[in-house]
Amino acid sequence: AKTRHLRWEVDYKYWSPDCVEGAVMSINGQFPGPIIRAVVGDTISVELTNKLATEGVVIHWHGIRQLGTPWADGTASISQCPINPGEIFTYRFKVDKAGTYFYHGHYGMQRSAGLYGSLIVQAGEGEKEPFHYDGEFNLLLSDWWHKSSHEQELGLSSVPFRWIGEPQSLLINGRGQYNCSLAASYRNSTSTAQCQFRGREQCAPFILPVLPNKTYRLRLASSTALASLNLAIGGHKMVVVEADGNFVQPFAVDDLDIYSGESYSVLITTDQDPRQNYWIAVGVRGRPPNTSQALTVLNYRPNSASKLPASPPPTTPLWNDYNHSKSFSTKILALAGSPRPPATHDRRIFLLNTQSKFSGQTKWSINNISLSLPPTPYLGALKYNLHGAFEARSPPESFPADYDVMHQPANPNTTVGSGIYTLALNTTVDIILQNANTLSANTSEIHPWHLHGHDFWVLGYGEGKFTAEDDDKRLNLKNPPLRNTAVIFPYGWTALRFVADNPGAWAFHCHIEPHLHMGMGVVLAVGADAVGKMKIPSEALTCGLTAKMMAANNGGH
Ligand code: C2O
Ligand code: CU
Repeated sequence: AKTRHLRWEVDYKYWSPDCVEGAVMSINGQFPGPIIRAVVGDTISVELTNKLATEGVVIHWHGIRQLGTPWADGTASISQCPINPGEIFTYRFKVDKAGTYFYHGHYGMQRSAGLYGSLIVQAGEGEKEPFHYDGEFNLLLSDWWHKSSHEQELGLSSVPFRWIGEPQSLLINGRGQYNCSLAASYRNSTSTAQCQFRGREQCAPFILPVLPNKTYRLRLASSTALASLNLAIGGHKMVVVEADGNFVQPFAVDDLDIYSGESYSVLITTDQDPRQNYWIAVGVRGRPPNTSQALTVLNYRPNSASKLPASPPPTTPLWNDYNHSKSFSTKILALAGSPRPPATHDRRIFLLNTQSKFSGQTKWSINNISLSLPPTPYLGALKYNLHGAFEARSPPESFPADYDVMHQPANPNTTVGSGIYTLALNTTVDIILQNANTLSANTSEIHPWHLHGHDFWVLGYGEGKFTAEDDDKRLNLKNPPLRNTAVIFPYGWTALRFVADNPGAWAFHCHIEPHLHMGMGVVLAVGADAVGKMKIPSEALTCGLTAKMMAANNGGH
């Protein structure tokens, strides 16, 4: 195992992700940020310099559990203070599990501004992955707006509320086409021009060159701010083998749903007519789509990459065909031999997801509390047992039994809070995520929930309100998949189990960035005593009450 030293500078830059120029967050001048490739057991050391003129920054390593290094999790107000303009902060952490991951900004809406990139952890030498392939490609999927993230943010907190709307473009490895289509010639519309590329444009599609009769691994990850996506390849089946850095029982699909925060590996075999090229298409699911598909080409060599496929791009399933999505999600099961969940839980927390109102603002609430992050990072407050850094009272463990999840809330008013759930070390915790109707009649949305610091087992999905009497016996304790992100479907519930074995302060939240910004998350404190004994670099904590405490200590001797 080695240590991989990286020096990064974060800055804004003019860039044309979808052929329209705008301000984009870049790392070392690149968008998306550089791909990190490492081997299991390696230590990653990123010396990050904030070159932004007027904002702080942090970077979260999504899917890396940060065993023993909670201070390197990169969540502003939770694991560290934002790094100020001109300052340097060094993230140092171990990658202990092979898989497909990514990293992204976790302060304000910096992910929407383009602060993300891929993190690939390869199996160690002598370690075998349970499948074979001849080559691999990495596709990081995202969505893109022409309005700046700052203006989006302003709209979300304004009264009246201004929603960010649907993205202008979907991007594959940071590349999309807004004002033209690669597939224009297949559509009987004169409104869309055919895209013309010389090949070196920032928005030129990321082509996948392949040879016939080989097997390729596609690593897919979604860092979208909002969109739930579906990916399909014309004429080719995909065999799903990995989800969120965990191996799954292989299964074949024609198309695959991927929600923000998720990652997959799929295998494809290039067994189609080698004289043709084939479309790779990515479209929006779960919201009435207003965004064109992202397209690129599976290019059978030696055909020219610009040879258009013989048939039109695969169509994305209807946005509200939730049965299609559910049938995909429930096919994902752990590979035989994977760790199994404890048979029982020590504690079960119910989290009701509702849309709500606070002083005229539109919010998302969990058990009727909308998360508002405090200026002192929770991790520092726990370490030094600082009172007043966040609300002392824990949020509720459940919601009123008679709450009607099928209709708009009878009382939409919520409170805003910073309280946390305290979990005893090594306890088995169930979380039942319960979806409900939003503030609009007959509306319930998809929310992909992501846990920091741990993977969880997805024990099951169901419709309506979860009841232990009916639903406990339907939970899968035999081969549930381990993941770090799981979706709740409209009007449904999702049951998760995990062992709280990693001391720290961990975010658990909807991965839709504007939803998190509107309060859709909770904070879990695991093993507070162990945190107290932990060494935490003081540079992580030089803000809020921890900064005051450090200043007082220094003055004292
Ligand atoms: Cu990728 Cu807290 O998120
Ligand atoms: Cu959400």
